[in-house]
Amino acid sequence: MRLVREVVSARGEGGVWVESLREALQIAEETSPQLALIDLDHLGEEAFELIRRLKSRNQGIRVALTSSRSSLGDELRAVRVGAESFIPLPQKIDKLKSFLGKASPVEANPYSLEGKGFEGIIGESPKLRKVLELARKVSQSSARTILIRGETGTGKGLLCRAIHQSSPRAKGPLIEVNCTAIPETLLEAELFGHEKGAYTDAKERKLGLLQLADKGTIFLDEIGNMSLNTQVKLLNAIEERKFKRLGGTEDIKVDIRVVAATNRDLETAVKEKGFREDLYYRLNVVSLLLPPLRERGKDVILLTHHFIEKYNREFNRRVRGLTPEAEGFLLSYDWPGNVRELKNFIERAVLLGEGDFIGPGNMPDAGCSLEKGDREDDLHALVISLPEMEKRLIQRALRLTKGNKSKAARLLDISRPRLLRKIEKYSLGAEYL
Ligand SMILES: Nc1ncnc2c1ncn2[C@@H]1O[C@H](COP(=O)(O)OP(=O)(O)OP(=O)(O)O)[C@@H](O)[C@H]1O
Ligand SMILES: [Mg+2]
Repeated sequence: MRLVREVVSARGEGGVWVESLREALQIAEETSPQLALIDLDHLGEEAFELIRRLKSRNQGIRVALTSSRSSLGDELRAVRVGAESFIPLPQKIDKLKSFLGKASPVEANPYSLEGKGFEGIIGESPKLRKVLELARKVSQSSARTILIRGETGTGKGLLCRAIHQSSPRAKGPLIEVNCTAIPETLLEAELFGHEKGAYTDAKERKLGLLQLADKGTIFLDEIGNMSLNTQVKLLNAIEERKFKRLGGTEDIKVDIRVVAATNRDLETAVKEKGFREDLYYRLNVVSLLLPPLRERGKDVILLTHHFIEKYNREFNRRVRGLTPEAEGFLLSYDWPGNVRELKNFIERAVLLGEGDFIGPGNMPDAGCSLEKGDREDDLHALVISLPEMEKRLIQRALRLTKGNKSKAARLLDISRPRLLRKIEKYSLGAEYL
């Protein structure tokens, strides 16, 4: 993938780089990319799953699978699930260039995000607007570090992408690194790169992500979990605008903006010596705090309608809105998982609901009254228990697809074997065969 990144950055194109299937799907959902390069060495089996899911989401997306090994079997599989090309690297570097070169002129930046910048962030509440205003200003500024804080699911990832897209760096890459997802020892090599022979496994020189993010933005997600050692090196790199690869002597100059995000209380982490004070001060120069959803008032309703539309489109449903009880409930609920929780809730409600409006009465046998019990219980009553929910979703998917298990699995976003196991678990199926 390194090589791919080098080729892409040499072409002066942006793009969003992610490390996992989950992140790739999230980005695809939010940004509708036109081109995807997927590395088989990195993702293994999941690479095929990813291609399949990207294609089922958007027929028009062009996908190439890269690998360091040339294998006819892999190539055939890739093409079968919808990839346009299989590119063994470094042998077929020209094929890669021509794949990238075929992007049509209107798509000069093949990764350009739909709804550039801030348009995709829904909300009118003064608290959110204030943060977005500030974010827009700093995105245009020369600030080299930006810290985004907020509880889980408040939209930190979304905001980072908006900042990159509306900044003068939008033509450069946006590289997303999840500091918890990568083991500590690897993270350093990933960020700074290494020379050949820097350590036992370092068989070749490798460019660090900081270098590959040159002229663009690097998003360090969950920075609160970065080791102290890596923190020192990162701070130096930010301040000096240069760094050395592991085992290297040459200074590598970079022009990057670091956007860091965390849901950790950094002040406490600093006090407990889990986070370096100097890095904290550096990052805290420009700090954006995303308010929790429960403090955004009517935004809950705006977001609900936004997600209803989204899932109506996706599941081909025609849900028109909320019942007044459901609306009152959503407004008074605490939303510990914030926008992500609301989004997931609406997704399930749109898929499950039988009538025109989402409300307790529209959920078959949800059998709950919103007045009793504490609020958290209410949500669960509204949503019903997870296994029961799962069972119903599967029934519904089977019904919608007239018992076609492959289609149902796709609709449910799980593999076919997994669906078959669940059908057995819940003793479903006979009536749909
Ligand atoms: N204001 C918003 N408008 C529309 N969608 C939003 C908004 N805020 C968040 N979302 C959506 O909610 C989901 C969660 O957002 P995101 O992943 O950016 O949160 P996060 O703060 O990075 O969470 P975590 O701390 O768990 O990583 C995403 O699918 C995102 O697109
Ligand atoms: Mg996030």
